[in-house]
Amino acid sequence: MTAGAPPWRLDGRVALVTGGSAGIGLATARALAGAGARVVITARNEERLRAAAEGIDGGVAWIVAHAGRPEDAARAIEFTTERFGSLDILVNNVATNPYFGPTLGITDEQAMKTMSVNQLAALRWTQLAWDAGLKESPHGSVVNVASVGAFFTRRNIGIYNMTKAGIVHLTAQLADELGPRVRVNAVAPGLIKTELARALWEKREAAVVAMTPLGRLGEVTDVANAVLFLASDMSSWITGHTMVIDGGVLAADPTVDHGKPVS
Ligand SMILES: NC(=O)c1ccc[n+]([C@@H]2O[C@H](COP(=O)([O-])OP(=O)(O)OC[C@H]3O[C@@H](n4cnc5c(N)ncnc54)[C@H](OP(=O)(O)O)[C@@H]3O)[C@@H](O)[C@H]2O)c1
Repeated sequence: MTAGAPPWRLDGRVALVTGGSAGIGLATARALAGAGARVVITARNEERLRAAAEGIDGGVAWIVAHAGRPEDAARAIEFTTERFGSLDILVNNVATNPYFGPTLGITDEQAMKTMSVNQLAALRWTQLAWDAGLKESPHGSVVNVASVGAFFTRRNIGIYNMTKAGIVHLTAQLADELGPRVRVNAVAPGLIKTELARALWEKREAAVVAMTPLGRLGEVTDVANAVLFLASDMSSWITGHTMVIDGGVLAADPTVDHGKPVS
């Protein structure tokens, strides 16, 4: 950090955000770049990735990489350190949900894909980042994107939520093992209006709001701001923590309709 700079500034630091071309990842890349970081974003669709990178003030670098493929992870991390000379912040944001239905109905292939992209990839990208220089960073920080679904059951997305519970545990485990060099934290968003979660909010927004003390669905910036907090020196004595960002859903009394606030 530049002397005298506020602790949320990331000047001189390099950040890699997986799944940065849309949704929470894009908002996070914008927040980190806005705080002065040099940012690399990854995703699968090249056109959308380039457009996203160019749409961020000052521009960010990008590289096509499937989060679940080891060779892509290695390529993206090498690209980042070659381009910017270091790696200080890793945001493991990508997740997938190829199956929507009763838990016992999932196929091996669908379950393996969910675990591979949502859980194993976060471990692998962190392993590679550590070796590529994260361990040498004076400000090393990993932020994993979990979900509030790590903490309760929900019909139709059981295995997805299981992988998110795994991310919460992985976050604590790595915090223990990578300290004091690197901090490892997670965010656990509630329902955010993105493409990934469309099936969960479209046509049932009022029902979701009814469960939400803050009376609205989440915005991508609600999560990005928390990632910035966890990535920066604002949270310099926090590690192993999963921060729930859900408008109060986890705290809510399920018998109350929060869509009708008390007068
Ligand atoms: N939205 C919610 O309500 C919510 C709630 C809790 C947690 N989350 C978590 O938040 C994170 C981001 O979700 P989101 O809602 O922002 O999703 P999103 O809007 O659908 O964006 C997903 C991003 O990841 C990229 N991506 C998807 N699969 C990929 C893969 N296999 N390899 C590389 N890039 C991939 C997409 O680009 P390409 O398709 O071009 O690859 C895109 O840039 C996920 O971990 C999700 O579980 C979301």
